[in-house]
Amino acid sequence: MSPGFQRALATLARFNDAHPWSHNDAYAALVLHHARRVRAAGGTEALDVGCGTGNLVRRLAGVFPAATGIEPDASTAAQARRTTADLTNVRILTQPFNELQGNRYDLITFVAVLHHLPLKATLEKTRELLRPGGRLVVVGISREAPADLPWSIASMVLNPIVGIAKHPRRSHTIPAHMTAPTAMAEESFEEIALAAEHTLPGARLRRSLFWRYTLCWKAPGSPWPAIATAEVPNSRSSGWRRRS
Ligand SMILES: C[S@@+](CC[C@H](N)C(=O)[O-])C[C@H]1O[C@@H](n2cnc3c(N)ncnc32)[C@H](O)[C@@H]1O
Repeated sequence: MSPGFQRALATLARFNDAHPWSHNDAYAALVLHHARRVRAAGGTEALDVGCGTGNLVRRLAGVFPAATGIEPDASTAAQARRTTADLTNVRILTQPFNELQGNRYDLITFVAVLHHLPLKATLEKTRELLRPGGRLVVVGISREAPADLPWSIASMVLNPIVGIAKHPRRSHTIPAHMTAPTAMAEESFEEIALAAEHTLPGARLRRSLFWRYTLCWKAPGSPWPAIATAEVPNSRSSGWRRRS
């Protein structure tokens, strides 16, 4: 890398630091889209793994009767409790995901978290924790590989533009909602796709902007096992139709 290019990157990094915005929160609309689909199908409980300072679990609580955030870092979990203090349908557990036991969920989300955990074991545990017909939504971070380059270049160009739009005044500190612990990703997108293919057949993975990928998977089965093959009302007519 030439010294001139290195200087340009350092200048860009300083600019981005001065106009911070959360690449994770940018995916909230996608997660909430899936959350509403799950809720419409009768789902009642969501789990946000590695909930950080609680931004997403707060929004999931607006969709589901019950939302749980799990966060092993004690001070980050305390911040998540403050973020959600006014909500009675939220609980924040201070523990790592591998120690979670008992309950099953209709929606499980990992936003910028999966790369903190052992990939295969985590996907397997998630599969066990999802109720029939439930969904997994991952907004993930992978180790940069040559195939990611087009997305990375587009993200490098767009990042400062979004930064100045969202945070026009220069900042000298990291916003509180962006203070959760971070880690470097070890697996590439291709490696994650391979693991998902084995553990979660039919999972859909896509490279995405701002150094993220998305993974969505629907657990087999119906959220209403008792009436899975029965007839249910058709909302568009007074008749009845068979659920697909
Ligand atoms: C980059 S932060 C993302 C936080 C939040 N999801 C967000 O979008 O802002 C990663 C989070 O994963 C949490 N984490 C790390 N290891 C974990 C584990 N074993 N189980 C659950 N969460 C974990 C970290 O403490 C941290 O809060």
